Amino acid sequence: MCGIVGYVGERPARELLLEGLRQLEYRGYDSAGISVIAEGQIDAVRAVGNLSALQEKLDGPVSPREGVAPVALAAKPATTGIGHTRWATHGRVSEKNAHPHSDSADRVHVVVNGIVENYMALKERLAATGSVFTSETDAEVIAHLIAEHYDGDLAEAVRAAYIELEGHFAFVAMTLEEPDVLVGARKECPLIVGRGEDEQFVASAVPAFLAHTRRVQFIDNGEIVTLRPDEVTITTPAGEPVERPVQTVDWDPETAQKGGFETFMLKEIHEQADALAETISDRTARATGVDLDDEGALEESILAGARRIVIVACGTAYHAGVVGRYAIEEWARLPVELDIASEYRYRNPVVGPSDLVIGISQSGETADTLAAMRLARERGATVLAITNTMGSQATREADGVLFTRAGLEIGVAATKTFVCQVAVMYLLGLRLAELRQTLARERIAELVAEIKHLPNAIAELIRACGSRAEAIADTCWDSDFFLYIGRHIGLPVALEGALKLKEISYISADAYAAGEMKHGPIALLDEGTPVVCVATQSPVLDKLVSNIQEARARGARVIAVVTAGDTVVEPHVDAMLPVPASDWMLQPILAVIPLQLLAYAVARRRGLNVDQPRNLAKTVTVE
Ligand code: F6R
Repeated sequence: MCGIVGYVGERPARELLLEGLRQLEYRGYDSAGISVIAEGQIDAVRAVGNLSALQEKLDGPVSPREGVAPVALAAKPATTGIGHTRWATHGRVSEKNAHPHSDSADRVHVVVNGIVENYMALKERLAATGSVFTSETDAEVIAHLIAEHYDGDLAEAVRAAYIELEGHFAFVAMTLEEPDVLVGARKECPLIVGRGEDEQFVASAVPAFLAHTRRVQFIDNGEIVTLRPDEVTITTPAGEPVERPVQTVDWDPETAQKGGFETFMLKEIHEQADALAETISDRTARATGVDLDDEGALEESILAGARRIVIVACGTAYHAGVVGRYAIEEWARLPVELDIASEYRYRNPVVGPSDLVIGISQSGETADTLAAMRLARERGATVLAITNTMGSQATREADGVLFTRAGLEIGVAATKTFVCQVAVMYLLGLRLAELRQTLARERIAELVAEIKHLPNAIAELIRACGSRAEAIADTCWDSDFFLYIGRHIGLPVALEGALKLKEISYISADAYAAGEMKHGPIALLDEGTPVVCVATQSPVLDKLVSNIQEARARGARVIAVVTAGDTVVEPHVDAMLPVPASDWMLQPILAVIPLQLLAYAVARRRGLNVDQPRNLAKTVTVE
C-alpha cells in the first residue's frame, strides 16, 4: 500500500511531488523519496521515516551518500519527477530500500506500489547479464528490466517489461534520455492520471493532485500510460491504443481521501481484494506450499518444534484467531489454545518453553495483547506477533513477526485487516502442516491454489453483494436485536458479523455457536427477529440447517450467508447472501464480507457515522 506520484509539465516538480506525497502519506510512511530530471541529470533523494524526514533532507546540506542530490534538487528548475511514500513489504525499512529505484547506469528511475511476484527469477536473470542491484526490494527489478528493454522509447520498454512482470502493482518510470516523459503501468493496484494545461499528474489516488486538477483518467488493469506535458496516451501492453474519456471529479479533499467512497470503512471494504493479494503474494509463490521466511519471521525450526499453539488477541483480531485455531488443528494437528488477551493475562496460564504463543493485533499496540504476549515470553514461550503495523510495540515484544499487509486502516471498525489476519492464520496453518507432514502434498498444493484465487473471489463478491446487503438492510435496519449463529468455521464469522453490527449501528446483537441456541438464546427470538446465519458449505451444514429450522419455528426471519449454488439452505431461509465457492475451510474470508456490508448498510440507514463510532478508539492502549 505505498503511494506513488508523478509530474511532467512546466512548473518546478519538487514541491508538487512533495505536496502530492503529503496527500498519500496515509498509504504508508516508513520511508519516502523523489527523483527529478534536470539539466541532463537525474537526482534522487530518499529518507527513512515520514515526509518530514525527506523534507529535512531536501532542505539540508548535501549528503555524501546521496551524491549531489539535495542541493541540486532544490536549486534546479526540474519539471519532471516521480515520488513515493513506502509501506514496506519486501525488504526492511532502510534508505537503500526506499524508492525511487534505478537501474545500474542510473538512467531509469521507478516508483512502485505493490508486489512483483516473480522478482527473484527476474533478478537472477538480470544479475547474470550485469545488472547490479542495490536494494532488497522486489521493486528495483522493474528499473533494471526497463533499462534492459530500452531502445530509445520508454513506453515501448515499459510495455516489454510489463509483459514479463507477474504480481499486482502499479509503477511510474522515467528516463534521462526522455526528460519530459513519464510512463506508468497498472496491474491490479490503482493508477490515476490528472490532466492539466501543459502539465500532467499521475498518482495512486486523486488527492495527490486534486489541488491542481479535477480532470482525471482512471487507468485500467493491463494498461500502459505515457504522459507528456501536452499529451496523454494509453495503450495495451501490445501497444494498441485505448480510448479513455477524461472525467471531472467533483470530490472535496475529504471525499478524495476516501477514493470517492462515502466513508473510509466502505473504501476499506472495497480494498480487501488488494490487501489480501499483498498479504499472500510472495508467501504463496511456490505452488506446492507456503513460505513464511520474511525478514523478522520466526526460524522454521521453532515452528516445527512447537508442541502447542496459544493464540491471544482482542476483538476482531480474536475472531481471526478463532479461524486460526480451526485451521491449525485441522491441517497441522497441533493443539491450539485461544484466549481473549485481557483474560489470559490475569489467568495465571500454564505456558512454557515448548509453546508458541501468537499475539494478533492490527495496531500492534493493544495493551492487553501486549501484556499477554509479555507474560508468555517471561514464562519461556516463543512469541510470534501478527500485526499490520511496522515498528509497533508488538514487533518489539515478540521473537518473530508476520505482517498483514493491509495498508493503513482508518475506519475504526476493522475490515480489511481482519481478512488479512485470517489469511495469515491460514498460511501459518499450512506451513505448520508442511513442516509437520500432516497433510498430503497434493492437498497443500490444492489449498495454496485456492488461497491464491481468493483475491479474485473477493473482488467478484464485492461487486455482486452490495445491492443484496442493501435490500436486506431495508427490511431489518430498525430491529432492536439481531442474533448471529454459526458452527465450526462459521462461528468466528458470526462473532465478527455481530461485532460489526454492534460497533457501527449500536444495535444489540448476540453471536452464538448454533448448537448453543437451545441452551438459552432461543428465548430471545420473537416474530420477525433477524437471525443471521453463517451457512456456507461445511461438514456440519445439515446440523446448522436444523438450528435454522428451530429459529424459524419461533418466527425468526433468517438471513443466511451461503455458498454460491447452495440448494440445501435455501428452502429454509428468508434471504440469502451468497459467496463464491471455495474450499470449505477458506469460506470465512469470503463469508465475513456480506456481513460487513450488511452492518454497514444498516448503520447508514440509521444515519450513523461508521468511521468514528461512539465510545470507540482505533487503538486501545489502555487495559
Ligand atoms: C473491531 C475492532 C477491535 C479491534 C481490537 C483489537 O472492529 O477493530 O475489536 O480488533 O481493539 O485491536 P488490535 O487488532 O489493534 O489489537
